[in-house]
Amino acid sequence: MNATSTGFLPGLEGVVAAETRLSSVDGQAGELIVRGFPIEELALHASFEETIFLLWNDRLPNAKELLAFRNALATESHLPDATLQLLKAAAKTNCDSMDTLRMAIDSLSLANDDTGMRIDQMKADGLRLVACFPLIVATYWRLLTGKPVIEARPELGIAANYLYMLTGAEPSDAKVKGLSTYLNTVADHGLNASTFTARVITSTESDLISALTGALGALKGPLHGGAPGPALDMVFEIREQGDAEVYLRRKIEAGERFMGFGHRVYKVRDPRADVLAIAAREMYEAGGDMELFRLAGEVEALALRLLEEYKPGRNLKTNVEYYTALLLHGLDLPTALFTPTFSIGRAAGWTAHCLEQASQNRLIRPQSVYIGEHGRSWVSVEDR
Ligand SMILES: CC(C)(COP(=O)(O)OP(=O)(O)OC[C@H]1O[C@@H](n2cnc3c(N)ncnc32)[C@H](O)[C@@H]1OP(=O)(O)O)[C@@H](O)C(=O)NCCC(=O)NCCS
Repeated sequence: MNATSTGFLPGLEGVVAAETRLSSVDGQAGELIVRGFPIEELALHASFEETIFLLWNDRLPNAKELLAFRNALATESHLPDATLQLLKAAAKTNCDSMDTLRMAIDSLSLANDDTGMRIDQMKADGLRLVACFPLIVATYWRLLTGKPVIEARPELGIAANYLYMLTGAEPSDAKVKGLSTYLNTVADHGLNASTFTARVITSTESDLISALTGALGALKGPLHGGAPGPALDMVFEIREQGDAEVYLRRKIEAGERFMGFGHRVYKVRDPRADVLAIAAREMYEAGGDMELFRLAGEVEALALRLLEEYKPGRNLKTNVEYYTALLLHGLDLPTALFTPTFSIGRAAGWTAHCLEQASQNRLIRPQSVYIGEHGRSWVSVEDR
């Protein structure tokens, strides 16, 4: 996107708005580095707890530190009664899962102990936030679907406990590995819209719960985190209608977008799509619907060919949402839970960015260029 005549860059494309030691996104090379690790290396090996520790501390924990960190997270793995009441009220009105998550995260302020020091308070809130995100999502899902709420078993670890609280059954190792890989893969991704939102809020010296509440609002939009559901819908519709090419041509000729393709930054294949494709294959091979997995691969190849044909030169490639949809579906998560599950992973990055912002803070306050009218004179309401 080029600058307008006033020098404004729509969408702030290409504008550097922060220095960070958290992650590096190279859209031309198709490379994502998190705290020095290529995403392919980190996501397929780490537990989600190790990734959070790495993001917060700039190094991996040793065995003793990891145990202490898991214990600290387990201590925070309970919801205040007011949050539970809010979830029950939201379920009665069939409230959207992301709206409910946003309200419930905000309600954690009700249980806040004031630790005095800003950074200490942020770290305490950070632990509570990353521990409570999966609890809120799973508890709300049970309430929304009229099922009894399942008590957390935090000793299982964040990924396994989340699946356990959703279903009441201990998940297989393959599923825990699949979900951990997903959470690690989406944990951080440069200065995306929700992370920027969280940093802006932190820069005003507001608190971490406010920052993550704002970030959730930004993540909900379909141009950011709200697209993985539709990406899979496309594959399901093709499975029903039979002819993928007819379906996709009709869609693009009607001016519609292929969900799960295109990215503001990546102009080659999103490296996260590759990691998730590996994780999804492993999980499906361990006992999933391999026919669906194969069809998704065929639809992807066809969509890429048609995007090149209809949108030449735009470099529209598979983005993270496409294989997210396949992976989360393989975990038996309904599409309504895809974006909330994304936010469980991204909460690790949001909290890390807020800590980084607070440690080197300067109020984020860019400028706007006025392009409106000048020289108007007041006309009373009767004369308009
Ligand atoms: C992600 C996204 C918003 C990035 O968009 P962007 O960088 O702002 O790109 P633009 O909206 O400027 O689009 C550039 C061109 O590519 C087209 N395009 C972009 N994504 C497309 C898609 N998924 N399917 C079809 N065409 C697409 C646009 O129509 C536009 O065409 P034009 O030049 O003929 O007008 C966009 O690719 C999109 O809407 N993708 C689908 C939703 C999705 O997967 N979101 C998850 C993102 S992680």
